[in-house]
Amino acid sequence: MKLIVLVYHMLQQGNLRFGIQAYEVSPDRLQGPSGRYLSPEANAFHPFQMEPNQLMLRTSRVCMGCHEQFINDKGVPMCQTGMEYSDMNAPVTCQSCHMPKVSDSTDHSMLGGHSETMLKRAIVVSLKTKTEGNVIKTTVRLQNMLPHRFPTGVPFRNVYMKLTAYDKQDRLLFNNFKTFPPEAKDDPKAMFMYNLADETGKTVALPFSASEMLSDTRFKASELRELDYNIPSKNVAVIRAEVIYHLLTPEFVEKLGAGLTGDLTSPAVAGIAEVKF
Ligand code: HEC
Ligand code: HEC
Repeated sequence: MKLIVLVYHMLQQGNLRFGIQAYEVSPDRLQGPSGRYLSPEANAFHPFQMEPNQLMLRTSRVCMGCHEQFINDKGVPMCQTGMEYSDMNAPVTCQSCHMPKVSDSTDHSMLGGHSETMLKRAIVVSLKTKTEGNVIKTTVRLQNMLPHRFPTGVPFRNVYMKLTAYDKQDRLLFNNFKTFPPEAKDDPKAMFMYNLADETGKTVALPFSASEMLSDTRFKASELRELDYNIPSKNVAVIRAEVIYHLLTPEFVEKLGAGLTGDLTSPAVAGIAEVKF
């Protein structure tokens, strides 16, 4: 075992390097995130000598060689979490959320979009309503709590805000999307996604073949958005806003659908708010 990272540089002699190739690997030295292993005597717990590298391993840099940016062979960015993040100079590290300290040890499970618990930290949803004549003027306030985009990571992650109104008997009176999965044409401002296209301008299901970016409507780091709706007030007993997260786009599922199950095809609720009348 001899892998450990010393520095990362994606640009080396003019060539972009991705993933592990962005890191320099030492043939004979091990490094750790704390200064604790300085003792020259190897022990049973750490049979190899270690040296500290806090600047690399205790900061976001350790993630950046792989997560700063990845572009496909046509130059289209596939994921850019690190660049989204450096935009705001956040003093908080990636590890503070993705490798939290729990009961004296560090959780290495690297939770992200597969974890509903993580998703629930991503966004704060609230509703403001005001009845005027026979409409309820409704504002949905959405605040991204993350120092990177929401959703971030691979291009097929996608989010939408579903706004519904029901009567006392739970009958649906209003829905901002007519179908499920939702279609952007019903309510484009409530869809938060990264749209990639082929050379003819047609949306691609599989991002690795994309040749251009059409639009990026995902939340920026810390972004606040307010969306306004007029809902007919007759018989309304409850108005509900839900922020729904999908790991894959419907097009992606259709293309590679056979065998996909669980959270790959069913959505998760990242945030919810309700007002009762
Ligand atoms: C050697 C490359 C490499 C390094 C270093 C690395 N990652 Fe990753 N990471 C990946 C790859 C590849 C994936 C899978 C593709 C994806 O989901 O983007 C991934 C996936 C993830 C995911 C998503 C997991 C899921 O549920 O799908 C999170 C969150 C993540 N990494 C966070 C981090 C953080 C935080 C760091 C730094 C402490 C880090 N990674 C360092 C390569 C790396
Ligand atoms: C304040 C907490 C927080 C910090 C700090 C943070 N993240 Fe995240 N990250 C999240 C949450 C919550 C999600 C799930 C929602 C989403 O995809 O945006 C997530 C999602 C991700 C994903 C996508 C996971 C997936 O399943 O696709 C990656 C990759 C990732 N983060 C990497 C990073 C990196 C790299 C950093 C540091 C530059 C970082 N994160 C900093 C909370 C955080």
